[in-house]
Amino acid sequence: MQPQPNSSPSAQVPLWRQLQGAASILLAVRDGQSMTPALDDVDAQLRPGVQALAFHALRWLGRAEALRQQLAKRPPPPEADALLCVALALACGDEAAPYTAHTLVDQAVEAAKRSDATLHQASFINGCLRRFLREQGALMALTEKSPLAVWNHPQWWIDRVRKDHPTQWQDILRANNSRAPLILRINERKTTPAQYVQALLAMDIGAFPIGDHGVVLTEARPVMSLPGFTEGHFSVQDAAAQLAAPLLLDGLMAVAGEGQPRLRILDACAAPGGKTAHLLELADCDVTALDIDAKRCERIAQNLTRLGLQAHIVVGDASRPGNWWDGRPYDGILLDAPCTASGIVRRHPDVRWLRRPTDIAQLAAIQTRLLATLWPLLKPGGRLVYCTCSVFRAEGEQQAQAFAASHPDAVLMPSPGHLLPQGSVKGAVFPDNLMREHDGFYYAVLQKRSA
Ligand SMILES: C[S@@+](CC[C@H](N)C(=O)[O-])C[C@H]1O[C@@H](n2cnc3c(N)ncnc32)[C@H](O)[C@@H]1O
Repeated sequence: MQPQPNSSPSAQVPLWRQLQGAASILLAVRDGQSMTPALDDVDAQLRPGVQALAFHALRWLGRAEALRQQLAKRPPPPEADALLCVALALACGDEAAPYTAHTLVDQAVEAAKRSDATLHQASFINGCLRRFLREQGALMALTEKSPLAVWNHPQWWIDRVRKDHPTQWQDILRANNSRAPLILRINERKTTPAQYVQALLAMDIGAFPIGDHGVVLTEARPVMSLPGFTEGHFSVQDAAAQLAAPLLLDGLMAVAGEGQPRLRILDACAAPGGKTAHLLELADCDVTALDIDAKRCERIAQNLTRLGLQAHIVVGDASRPGNWWDGRPYDGILLDAPCTASGIVRRHPDVRWLRRPTDIAQLAAIQTRLLATLWPLLKPGGRLVYCTCSVFRAEGEQQAQAFAASHPDAVLMPSPGHLLPQGSVKGAVFPDNLMREHDGFYYAVLQKRSA
């Protein structure tokens, strides 16, 4: 799921309750759980505010932990430590906060007093936060030596991005800590980006087009409040992800002429169906949407129904085609492979804290196996688009190059390659950047030789 973009902490809900909620999210992430399901467990009324605070806390967690270490050499029990780190993250970095630093401290202490798990740590938290307010400049300076504090990413992640992108690593890490805007993909079967921008402007909602099918909102909104949601006029999808369907179809539409059978396309890791839907919005083709996760396959069905589209949805393991393939080769295959998600840290700030260094090699091995298994299912002359939402070269460039080198019938076509995360508001513009506003992604187009 694409998370809903940040919204301001709700004015109706007291700040101390939102702080408690954000601390519970941090506890869950520290326990290895991803933020999206943890947020689903939060009371609906609290959720927007808790999400905004938790997003901020996770973007500043490295700094907050370094500050906590300066304030107390031994961490307090986990619940109190989570609350203290959330408050420190907010105190040292939220310029847009609608409360003063002193209110934040009072409310953090109130949050501690109102829970049995933190009650006995309330005065410790009070002492730490008040000392932080008194000595902020000196404490921040002390943490400047720590890359974890400066970049708010684990050391191994910083080292890896630096190795993979020696001249761009700082801009990538900076972009990861920025807020991503809400980007929509317009359903071209129902309306156009230009018409949709007009509809938004008529409602005083700032928006501008991006790429061929996208619209960026200048301020985040709940998607259900936007015009045409129920009618399927748009989906939420980052601009980089919107490149997948056109990349696959551009090469195939040339061969799909009048009187030819409809294109047969396999979307091999399809759930929740973002790219499946885009394929169907752009072309009259038969798409098999395959995913190993039955629950996530239900989301494909729901999304396609809302958009007025149809695919053949199959629950199955892409690395075992014997269990689901009918033996007829495909004209095109989209392999949006499982990956570390290191390119979408702007939208999922928990990812960097959840991953382990060994995950890269483990996921790369799965990607290698999926590529090798699916290739024989492609017709001669057909195309396979391989993509991951990762900036790590092991999951992108190295994967595609190794595949092309070991498959003489594969031609690596001119492809976007590594797109690096990029915000249009601040930061550098990478030369490979197609649209100035997108997540990190990797794309390779592989064509199968005809004979
Ligand atoms: C990056 S997500 C796909 C996003 C999707 N393409 C979209 O645009 O909405 C990767 C998906 O791969 C699925 N997956 C992982 N291993 C798989 C396998 N062996 N076979 C099929 N699907 C798999 C996961 O369940 C997950 O839904």
